[in-house]
Amino acid sequence: MASVDIIEDGRAIALETSNSRARFHAIWLRDNAWDAETRAPGNGQRLIALRDIPNSTSVSDAKIENETLLLRFLPEDRMISYDIDWLFNHSYDRQERDPDGWTNAQIQPWDGSLGADIPLADFRSVQTDRAAKTAWLGGVARYGFGKLINGPVEEGALFQVADLFGYVRETNYGRHFEVRTEVNPTNLAYTGLGLQAHTDNPYRDPVPTVQILYCLENSAEGGENMVVDGFACALRLREEDPRGFDLLSGNCARFEFAGTEGVCLRSRRPMIELAPDGELVGIRFNNRSAAAITDVPYDDMEDYYAAYRKLGEIIDDPAMEVTFKLNPGECFIVDNTRVLHARKGYSGEGSRWLQGCYADMDGLRSTHAALEIELGIAAE
Ligand code: FE2
Repeated sequence: MASVDIIEDGRAIALETSNSRARFHAIWLRDNAWDAETRAPGNGQRLIALRDIPNSTSVSDAKIENETLLLRFLPEDRMISYDIDWLFNHSYDRQERDPDGWTNAQIQPWDGSLGADIPLADFRSVQTDRAAKTAWLGGVARYGFGKLINGPVEEGALFQVADLFGYVRETNYGRHFEVRTEVNPTNLAYTGLGLQAHTDNPYRDPVPTVQILYCLENSAEGGENMVVDGFACALRLREEDPRGFDLLSGNCARFEFAGTEGVCLRSRRPMIELAPDGELVGIRFNNRSAAAITDVPYDDMEDYYAAYRKLGEIIDDPAMEVTFKLNPGECFIVDNTRVLHARKGYSGEGSRWLQGCYADMDGLRSTHAALEIELGIAAE
Protein backbone atom coordinates (compact mmCIF):
# COMPACT_ATOMS: atom_id res chain seq x y z
CA MET A 1 0.00 0.00 0.00
CA ALA A 2 1.47 3.33 -1.07
CA SER A 3 1.34 6.58 0.88
CA VAL A 4 1.95 10.15 -0.18
CA ASP A 5 3.10 13.33 1.60
CA ILE A 6 3.17 16.89 0.36
CA ILE A 7 6.63 18.34 1.03
CA GLU A 8 8.52 21.59 0.44
CA ASP A 9 5.38 23.75 0.72
CA GLY A 10 3.67 21.91 -2.12
CA ARG A 11 6.57 22.18 -4.52
CA ALA A 12 7.08 18.41 -4.27
CA ILE A 13 5.56 15.16 -3.00
CA ALA A 14 7.10 12.08 -1.47
CA LEU A 15 5.65 8.75 -2.59
CA GLU A 16 6.34 5.70 -0.48
CA THR A 17 5.60 1.99 -0.69
CA SER A 18 6.81 -0.80 1.55
CA ASN A 19 10.07 -1.09 -0.39
CA SER A 20 10.68 2.23 -2.15
CA ARG A 21 10.44 5.96 -1.69
CA ALA A 22 10.81 8.70 -4.29
CA ARG A 23 10.26 12.43 -4.37
CA PHE A 24 8.76 14.21 -7.38
CA HIS A 25 8.54 17.95 -8.01
CA ALA A 26 5.18 19.57 -8.70
CA ILE A 27 6.41 21.11 -11.96
CA TRP A 28 7.71 17.71 -13.16
CA LEU A 29 4.45 15.98 -12.23
CA ARG A 30 2.33 18.61 -13.95
CA ASP A 31 4.47 18.40 -17.10
CA ASN A 32 4.16 14.61 -17.10
CA ALA A 33 0.42 14.42 -16.66
CA TRP A 34 -1.30 11.90 -18.94
CA ASP A 35 -4.78 13.43 -18.96
CA ALA A 36 -6.43 14.01 -22.35
CA GLU A 37 -5.83 17.77 -22.20
CA THR A 38 -2.08 17.32 -21.67
CA ARG A 39 -1.38 14.33 -23.92
CA ALA A 40 -3.08 13.30 -27.16
CA PRO A 41 -4.94 10.05 -26.35
CA GLY A 42 -3.99 8.49 -29.73
CA ASN A 43 -0.25 9.00 -30.06
CA GLY A 44 0.74 10.23 -26.60
CA GLN A 45 2.20 13.47 -27.96
CA ARG A 46 2.23 16.35 -25.50
CA LEU A 47 -0.39 18.96 -26.37
CA ILE A 48 0.94 21.75 -24.17
CA ALA A 49 4.26 23.58 -23.89
CA LEU A 50 5.95 24.40 -20.62
CA ARG A 51 4.82 28.02 -21.05
CA ASP A 52 1.22 26.76 -20.59
CA ILE A 53 2.04 25.56 -17.06
CA PRO A 54 2.20 28.32 -14.42
CA ASN A 55 5.67 28.86 -12.99
CA SER A 56 4.16 28.86 -9.49
CA THR A 57 2.64 25.38 -9.88
CA SER A 58 2.26 23.53 -6.58
CA VAL A 59 0.35 20.57 -5.15
CA SER A 60 -2.40 21.45 -2.69
CA ASP A 61 -4.01 18.02 -2.16
CA ALA A 62 -2.59 14.52 -2.52
CA LYS A 63 -4.29 11.20 -1.93
CA ILE A 64 -4.26 7.62 -3.11
CA GLU A 65 -7.41 5.86 -4.23
CA ASN A 66 -7.50 2.41 -5.84
CA GLU A 67 -3.74 2.32 -6.51
CA THR A 68 -3.99 5.68 -8.27
CA LEU A 69 -2.35 8.89 -7.08
CA LEU A 70 -4.61 11.95 -7.21
CA LEU A 71 -3.03 15.40 -7.09
CA ARG A 72 -4.65 18.84 -7.10
CA PHE A 73 -2.51 21.51 -8.75
CA LEU A 74 -2.64 25.22 -7.97
CA PRO A 75 -3.12 27.81 -9.33
CA GLU A 76 -4.87 25.85 -12.12
CA ASP A 77 -7.03 24.13 -9.50
CA ARG A 78 -7.02 20.88 -11.46
CA MET A 79 -7.10 17.33 -10.17
CA ILE A 80 -4.90 14.94 -12.15
CA SER A 81 -4.42 11.21 -11.61
CA TYR A 82 -1.21 9.20 -11.94
CA ASP A 83 -0.34 5.55 -12.24
CA ILE A 84 1.92 4.81 -9.26
CA ASP A 85 3.88 2.12 -11.10
CA TRP A 86 4.56 4.55 -13.96
CA LEU A 87 5.89 7.08 -11.46
CA PHE A 88 8.26 4.61 -9.80
CA ASN A 89 9.41 3.42 -13.23
CA HIS A 90 10.29 7.03 -14.05
CA SER A 91 11.79 7.98 -10.71
CA TYR A 92 14.70 10.43 -10.81
CA ASP A 93 15.29 10.71 -7.05
CA ARG A 94 18.83 9.33 -6.90
CA GLN A 95 21.50 10.59 -4.57
CA GLU A 96 24.65 9.48 -6.30
CA ARG A 97 26.04 10.11 -9.72
CA ASP A 98 27.54 7.11 -11.52
CA PRO A 99 31.28 7.30 -12.31
CA ASP A 100 32.26 8.68 -15.72
CA GLY A 101 32.09 5.97 -18.35
CA TRP A 102 29.00 4.20 -16.97
CA THR A 103 26.99 2.25 -19.52
CA ASN A 104 23.26 1.75 -19.57
CA ALA A 105 21.75 -1.57 -18.58
CA GLN A 106 20.72 -2.46 -22.14
CA ILE A 107 24.28 -2.92 -23.34
CA GLN A 108 26.86 -5.55 -22.47
CA PRO A 109 30.58 -4.78 -22.89
CA TRP A 110 32.57 -7.80 -24.12
CA ASP A 111 36.06 -8.98 -24.99
CA GLY A 112 37.51 -11.94 -26.88
CA SER A 113 35.96 -14.37 -24.41
CA LEU A 114 32.63 -13.70 -26.13
CA GLY A 115 33.95 -16.18 -28.69
CA ALA A 116 31.18 -18.07 -30.44
CA ASP A 117 28.43 -16.42 -28.40
CA ILE A 118 28.05 -13.62 -30.92
CA PRO A 119 24.54 -12.66 -32.03
CA LEU A 120 24.17 -15.01 -34.98
CA ALA A 121 21.10 -15.80 -37.05
CA ASP A 122 19.97 -17.34 -40.30
CA PHE A 123 19.33 -14.77 -43.03
CA ARG A 124 15.94 -16.19 -44.06
CA SER A 125 14.72 -16.75 -40.53
CA VAL A 126 15.18 -13.10 -39.52
CA GLN A 127 13.24 -12.13 -42.63
CA THR A 128 10.31 -14.45 -41.95
CA ASP A 129 10.21 -15.08 -38.20
CA ARG A 130 9.52 -12.02 -36.04
CA ALA A 131 10.73 -13.72 -32.86
CA ALA A 132 14.05 -14.64 -34.52
CA LYS A 133 14.38 -11.10 -35.85
CA THR A 134 13.61 -9.62 -32.43
CA ALA A 135 16.22 -11.81 -30.77
CA TRP A 136 18.88 -10.96 -33.35
CA LEU A 137 18.21 -7.20 -33.29
CA GLY A 138 18.27 -7.35 -29.48
CA GLY A 139 21.68 -9.02 -29.64
CA VAL A 140 22.99 -6.34 -32.00
CA ALA A 141 21.69 -3.61 -29.68
CA ARG A 142 23.25 -5.31 -26.64
CA TYR A 143 26.63 -6.27 -28.13
CA GLY A 144 26.92 -3.67 -30.91
CA PHE A 145 27.59 -6.45 -33.36
CA GLY A 146 25.89 -9.34 -35.12
CA LYS A 147 26.29 -11.81 -37.95
CA LEU A 148 23.90 -13.36 -40.47
CA ILE A 149 24.56 -16.58 -42.37
CA ASN A 150 23.01 -18.51 -45.28
CA GLY A 151 22.04 -15.39 -47.23
CA PRO A 152 21.87 -15.11 -51.02
CA VAL A 153 25.13 -14.69 -52.93
CA GLU A 154 23.96 -11.83 -55.09
CA GLU A 155 24.85 -8.20 -55.54
CA GLY A 156 22.72 -5.84 -53.46
CA ALA A 157 21.73 -8.50 -50.90
CA LEU A 158 23.10 -6.17 -48.22
CA PHE A 159 20.14 -3.85 -48.76
CA GLN A 160 17.85 -6.62 -47.54
CA VAL A 161 19.77 -6.50 -44.26
CA ALA A 162 19.19 -2.75 -43.90
CA ASP A 163 15.52 -3.34 -44.78
CA LEU A 164 15.17 -5.49 -41.66
CA PHE A 165 15.33 -2.42 -39.41
CA GLY A 166 15.69 0.83 -41.28
CA TYR A 167 17.19 2.71 -44.17
CA VAL A 168 20.50 2.95 -45.96
CA ARG A 169 22.44 6.10 -45.21
CA GLU A 170 23.85 7.27 -48.53
CA THR A 171 27.19 9.07 -48.48
CA ASN A 172 29.73 10.41 -50.96
CA TYR A 173 30.86 6.77 -51.33
CA GLY A 174 27.43 6.04 -52.76
CA ARG A 175 24.41 4.06 -51.59
CA HIS A 176 26.83 1.20 -51.08
CA PHE A 177 30.54 0.66 -51.62
CA GLU A 178 32.57 -2.21 -53.02
CA VAL A 179 35.40 -3.60 -50.90
CA ARG A 180 37.97 -5.40 -53.08
CA THR A 181 41.42 -4.90 -54.48
CA GLU A 182 41.74 -2.05 -56.91
CA VAL A 183 44.77 -1.09 -58.95
CA ASN A 184 44.77 2.57 -57.92
CA PRO A 185 43.25 2.59 -54.46
CA THR A 186 42.02 5.97 -53.21
CA ASN A 187 41.36 4.45 -49.83
CA LEU A 188 43.38 1.77 -48.04
CA ALA A 189 40.23 -0.31 -47.48
CA TYR A 190 40.44 -1.32 -51.13
CA THR A 191 43.90 -2.93 -50.96
CA GLY A 192 45.15 -6.23 -49.54
CA LEU A 193 46.85 -4.66 -46.52
CA GLY A 194 45.68 -5.47 -43.03
CA LEU A 195 43.91 -2.59 -41.29
CA GLN A 196 44.05 -1.58 -37.65
CA ALA A 197 40.68 -1.88 -35.94
CA HIS A 198 38.76 1.34 -36.45
CA THR A 199 35.38 2.95 -36.53
CA ASP A 200 34.28 4.15 -39.95
CA ASN A 201 33.99 7.74 -41.07
CA PRO A 202 34.80 9.58 -37.82
CA TYR A 203 35.22 12.66 -40.03
CA ARG A 204 31.44 12.81 -40.42
CA ASP A 205 29.20 14.51 -37.92
CA PRO A 206 27.05 12.62 -37.22
CA VAL A 207 28.91 9.43 -38.10
CA PRO A 208 26.98 6.60 -39.79
CA THR A 209 25.91 4.61 -36.76
CA VAL A 210 25.57 1.21 -38.47
CA GLN A 211 27.83 -0.49 -40.98
CA ILE A 212 26.85 -3.64 -42.86
CA LEU A 213 29.53 -5.66 -44.66
CA TYR A 214 28.25 -8.43 -46.92
CA CYS A 215 30.49 -11.10 -48.43
CA LEU A 216 30.06 -12.19 -52.06
CA GLU A 217 33.44 -13.85 -52.69
CA ASN A 218 36.20 -14.91 -50.34
CA SER A 219 38.67 -17.39 -51.72
CA ALA A 220 41.77 -15.34 -50.86
CA GLU A 221 44.16 -16.55 -48.21
CA GLY A 222 43.64 -14.66 -44.92
CA GLY A 223 41.39 -11.62 -44.90
CA GLU A 224 39.55 -12.61 -41.73
CA ASN A 225 37.36 -9.96 -40.17
CA MET A 226 37.62 -9.03 -36.56
CA VAL A 227 35.66 -6.81 -34.23
CA VAL A 228 36.60 -5.15 -30.95
CA ASP A 229 34.22 -3.59 -28.43
CA GLY A 230 35.37 0.03 -28.15
CA PHE A 231 33.32 0.44 -24.97
CA ALA A 232 35.16 -2.46 -23.31
CA CYS A 233 38.47 -0.93 -24.44
CA ALA A 234 37.53 2.48 -23.02
CA LEU A 235 36.49 0.87 -19.72
CA ARG A 236 39.78 -1.01 -19.56
CA LEU A 237 41.65 2.25 -20.18
CA ARG A 238 39.67 3.84 -17.33
CA GLU A 239 40.72 0.95 -15.12
CA GLU A 240 44.40 0.97 -16.09
CA ASP A 241 44.90 4.70 -16.68
CA PRO A 242 42.13 6.90 -15.25
CA ARG A 243 43.85 10.13 -16.27
CA GLY A 244 44.27 8.83 -19.81
CA PHE A 245 40.54 8.08 -19.91
CA ASP A 246 39.81 11.63 -18.71
CA LEU A 247 42.13 13.13 -21.34
CA LEU A 248 40.62 11.20 -24.26
CA SER A 249 37.05 11.86 -23.11
CA GLY A 250 37.66 15.46 -22.05
CA ASN A 251 39.34 16.75 -25.21
CA CYS A 252 38.34 16.80 -28.85
CA ALA A 253 40.34 15.01 -31.52
CA ARG A 254 40.04 15.97 -35.15
CA PHE A 255 39.32 13.80 -38.17
CA GLU A 256 39.43 14.57 -41.84
CA PHE A 257 38.89 12.95 -45.23
CA ALA A 258 39.67 14.84 -48.40
CA GLY A 259 40.88 11.97 -50.59
CA THR A 260 38.28 12.41 -53.31
CA GLU A 261 37.82 15.47 -55.50
CA GLY A 262 35.07 17.73 -54.24
CA VAL A 263 35.03 16.17 -50.75
CA CYS A 264 36.46 17.77 -47.60
CA LEU A 265 34.89 16.19 -44.53
CA ARG A 266 36.09 17.41 -41.13
CA SER A 267 34.96 16.78 -37.58
CA ARG A 268 36.03 17.82 -34.10
CA ARG A 269 34.95 15.20 -31.58
CA PRO A 270 36.50 13.20 -28.71
CA MET A 271 37.84 9.66 -29.21
CA ILE A 272 35.86 8.61 -26.14
CA GLU A 273 32.55 10.44 -26.00
CA LEU A 274 30.58 10.83 -22.78
CA ALA A 275 27.12 12.30 -22.26
CA PRO A 276 26.97 15.31 -19.91
CA ASP A 277 26.23 12.91 -17.02
CA GLY A 278 29.24 10.71 -17.83
CA GLU A 279 27.49 7.92 -19.77
CA LEU A 280 29.79 6.30 -22.32
CA VAL A 281 28.08 6.97 -25.65
CA GLY A 282 30.64 6.80 -28.44
CA ILE A 283 34.07 5.78 -29.68
CA ARG A 284 35.89 7.30 -32.65
CA PHE A 285 39.17 5.64 -33.51
CA ASN A 286 40.72 5.64 -36.96
CA ASN A 287 44.43 6.11 -37.57
CA ARG A 288 43.91 6.74 -41.29
CA SER A 289 41.65 9.74 -40.91
CA ALA A 290 42.98 11.25 -37.68
CA ALA A 291 43.91 14.88 -38.39
CA ALA A 292 46.24 17.16 -36.44
CA ILE A 293 44.96 17.39 -32.89
CA THR A 294 44.93 21.06 -31.90
CA ASP A 295 42.39 21.20 -29.07
CA VAL A 296 44.48 19.68 -26.28
CA PRO A 297 46.32 22.19 -24.04
CA TYR A 298 50.11 22.23 -24.51
CA ASP A 299 50.70 21.00 -20.97
CA ASP A 300 48.50 17.95 -21.56
CA MET A 301 49.55 16.99 -25.10
CA GLU A 302 52.28 14.47 -24.19
CA ASP A 303 49.97 12.74 -21.73
CA TYR A 304 47.17 12.84 -24.29
CA TYR A 305 49.43 11.05 -26.78
CA ALA A 306 50.39 8.49 -24.13
CA ALA A 307 46.68 7.83 -23.53
CA TYR A 308 46.00 7.63 -27.29
CA ARG A 309 48.84 5.07 -27.59
CA LYS A 310 47.52 3.12 -24.61
CA LEU A 311 44.01 2.96 -26.05
CA GLY A 312 45.50 1.72 -29.34
CA GLU A 313 47.44 -0.99 -27.48
CA ILE A 314 44.27 -2.15 -25.74
CA ILE A 315 42.41 -2.21 -29.08
CA ASP A 316 45.28 -4.22 -30.64
CA ASP A 317 45.36 -6.72 -27.75
CA PRO A 318 44.22 -10.09 -29.19
CA ALA A 319 42.41 -10.76 -25.89
CA MET A 320 39.91 -8.04 -26.83
CA GLU A 321 39.02 -9.27 -30.33
CA VAL A 322 36.56 -11.65 -31.88
CA THR A 323 37.77 -12.95 -35.25
CA PHE A 324 35.81 -14.74 -37.94
CA LYS A 325 35.93 -15.42 -41.64
CA LEU A 326 32.99 -14.41 -43.77
CA ASN A 327 31.85 -16.88 -46.40
CA PRO A 328 29.86 -15.84 -49.46
CA GLY A 329 26.28 -15.10 -48.39
CA GLU A 330 27.34 -14.09 -44.87
CA CYS A 331 27.47 -10.61 -43.45
CA PHE A 332 28.12 -8.75 -40.26
CA ILE A 333 26.76 -5.56 -38.83
CA VAL A 334 28.37 -3.24 -36.30
CA ASP A 335 27.23 -0.32 -34.19
CA ASN A 336 29.79 2.08 -35.63
CA THR A 337 29.60 4.38 -32.60
CA ARG A 338 30.91 1.58 -30.43
CA VAL A 339 32.41 -1.50 -32.08
CA LEU A 340 35.60 -1.26 -34.12
CA HIS A 341 36.18 -3.54 -37.08
CA ALA A 342 39.31 -4.64 -38.87
CA ARG A 343 40.54 -6.90 -41.57
CA LYS A 344 43.59 -9.08 -41.41
CA GLY A 345 45.92 -8.88 -44.40
CA TYR A 346 45.16 -11.12 -47.37
CA SER A 347 47.11 -12.32 -50.36
CA GLY A 348 46.36 -11.53 -53.96
CA GLU A 349 45.61 -15.20 -54.60
CA GLY A 350 41.94 -15.87 -55.18
CA SER A 351 39.40 -13.13 -54.80
CA ARG A 352 37.72 -11.24 -52.02
CA TRP A 353 34.66 -9.12 -52.64
CA LEU A 354 32.46 -7.53 -50.03
CA GLN A 355 29.76 -4.92 -50.38
CA GLY A 356 29.22 -2.42 -47.60
CA CYS A 357 26.66 0.18 -46.70
CA TYR A 358 25.71 2.40 -43.81
CA ALA A 359 22.47 2.67 -41.88
CA ASP A 360 21.52 3.86 -38.40
CA MET A 361 21.12 2.48 -34.90
CA ASP A 362 18.07 4.58 -34.00
CA GLY A 363 16.01 2.68 -36.57
CA LEU A 364 17.40 -0.63 -35.35
CA ARG A 365 16.57 0.13 -31.71
CA SER A 366 13.14 1.42 -32.72
CA THR A 367 12.33 -1.71 -34.73
CA HIS A 368 13.55 -3.89 -31.89
CA ALA A 369 11.53 -2.01 -29.23
CA ALA A 370 8.37 -2.02 -31.36
CA LEU A 371 8.72 -5.77 -32.00
CA GLU A 372 9.17 -6.41 -28.27
CA ILE A 373 5.94 -4.54 -27.56
CA GLU A 374 4.16 -6.34 -30.39
CA LEU A 375 5.32 -9.76 -29.18
CA GLY A 376 4.64 -8.91 -25.54
CA ILE A 377 8.26 -9.25 -24.49
CA ALA A 378 8.92 -7.22 -21.34
CA ALA A 379 11.78 -4.76 -21.76
CA GLU A 380 14.52 -5.16 -19.18
FE1 FE2 B 1 36.07 0.24 -42.12
